Amino acid sequence: MSAEPPRRRTAILISGRGSNMAALIAAAQGPDYPAEIALVVANRPDAGGLERARGEGVATACIDHRPFGRDREAFERAVDERLRIDQIELIALAGFMRILTPWFVRRWEGRLINIHPSLLPLFRGTHTHARALEAGVTEHGCSVHFVVPELDAGPVIAQARVPVLPGDDEGALAARVLEQELTLYPQALAEVASGRVALVEGVVRRS
Ligand code: GAR
Repeated sequence: MSAEPPRRRTAILISGRGSNMAALIAAAQGPDYPAEIALVVANRPDAGGLERARGEGVATACIDHRPFGRDREAFERAVDERLRIDQIELIALAGFMRILTPWFVRRWEGRLINIHPSLLPLFRGTHTHARALEAGVTEHGCSVHFVVPELDAGPVIAQARVPVLPGDDEGALAARVLEQELTLYPQALAEVASGRVALVEGVVRRS
């Protein structure tokens, strides 16, 4: 009888309602999933995802960024300390709306992934759905990528596409993209946690 491979201890960082977080938690309940969601960290006490995570029996921490003022790195040191106490190996950003400093990103390089609601490299940053509509694209979607110091510029692990339909407004398009996010992110995290996908010298390697 062979031992099961260890599941990678993963933290999810959130700022809001946590639908991607909930999808990752649900996927990780599967017996063969290669990641275990060991911790959810929010930078806002009112993040709805905190309550959802607790309801699923996942450990949570709220580290409010506001007392740290402009000192982003001091906030990140507090987050980093908690991640280390909890022996976290991988981080999945899921609607985490703080820009991370190069200090934090380099510390977690190759072990830090994000989901972004656009087909990167298109529409980095915020308000992606409104900008896609304004640009008149016929196709939109979401991307999971390794995080690098430059915002939303890291190597892409996986993407899902949706059509932009006549009459779409921001809400309709966001909902269509989110539906894809909830499938794409658990798949991408599994690929990284199992080692099938890795960041090697700044490039995504698949094995
Ligand atoms: C998601 O659409 C996610 O892709 C996006 O925020 C939403 C969070 O929703 N992330 C970003 O814009 C990151 N720059 P959720 O909290 O319900 O998962």
